[in-house]
Amino acid sequence: MSKRVLNVGLVGGGKGAFIVQPHQKAIHFDGTRRVTAAALFPDPKVALEEAANWPYPIKGYGSYDEMINDQKNLPADQKLDYILIVTPNHVHFDPAMKSIKARIPVFCEKPLCLNLTEANELVKAVRDNNVPFGVSHTYLGHWTSRLSRYIVRAGLLGEVRWVDSFYLQGWLATKLEAFRGRGNDDYRGSHDLEDVIAVVDGRQEIVSEVRDAPSDVRGYIASEMRRLLGTRQFLDALPGFLLPDSASQGRQPLLRERLNALAQSDG
Ligand SMILES: NC(=O)c1ccc[n+]([C@@H]2O[C@H](COP(=O)([O-])OP(=O)(O)OC[C@H]3O[C@@H](n4cnc5c(N)ncnc54)[C@H](O)[C@@H]3O)[C@@H](O)[C@H]2O)c1
Repeated sequence: MSKRVLNVGLVGGGKGAFIVQPHQKAIHFDGTRRVTAAALFPDPKVALEEAANWPYPIKGYGSYDEMINDQKNLPADQKLDYILIVTPNHVHFDPAMKSIKARIPVFCEKPLCLNLTEANELVKAVRDNNVPFGVSHTYLGHWTSRLSRYIVRAGLLGEVRWVDSFYLQGWLATKLEAFRGRGNDDYRGSHDLEDVIAVVDGRQEIVSEVRDAPSDVRGYIASEMRRLLGTRQFLDALPGFLLPDSASQGRQPLLRERLNALAQSDG
């Protein structure tokens, strides 16, 4: 089996997109893979501009169709070994199906697609073409999910007749509350603050999202941000939440700007 570094192609990820960032870190973490090509945005012109301005050299494509179709023209060492799909939910099925049909392995963000019919089609295509395919349902491996499954399967809840679940949009508020409760004012060592800063730094939409949140959530986030920004130890700890290289440290003003905007998001 070849030992060469695997080539990864991104579908989505331009213009400050969110989940591409942790994926990129993971891809480049151990030297086994690297991002070499990308179709970063729905508008071809923007997609190419974003690729040209990417922090390291990649081959930009105006669309994922172009990226997938181009593979057959490339020498073996330049072909993509897999495609990473980090687009919004409604843009998972199409690039996934086209990659499978081109026999390019896929790692797709969750949810796999929008309905069971699409999911069944993808499963069939994967089997027919014998193409490796992964979905990043990371929480399925988490102990809380496994314990929940055990509780249900063991019948500890009795017969389950109704399941209701929701996504906690107040995540940021919950993290700030957690720091209050268990952070012991450890501004440098708190993983809750680390999470808060990682999201504020990595997600440019965070300010507008918080502004759209219910007023009590928005008010709580704003007042906690004001408290943090008024605390000397927090301001001193802030550079330590960014990587030490100069490009990352250069993001400090942007980060401070976002934190200030969050502190005013109840105004
Ligand atoms: N596994 C997890 O924990 C986790 C967490 C967050 C998001 N997600 C999933 O990741 C996906 C992306 O979420 P996000 O928060 O990064 O969204 P985002 O809106 O920040 O990023 C989506 C990106 O896709 C690009 N895009 C949209 N249509 C495109 C197209 N036709 N061609 C090329 N690029 C296109 C957008 O321009 C943007 O760059 C979603 O499906 C979401 O459910 C998973």
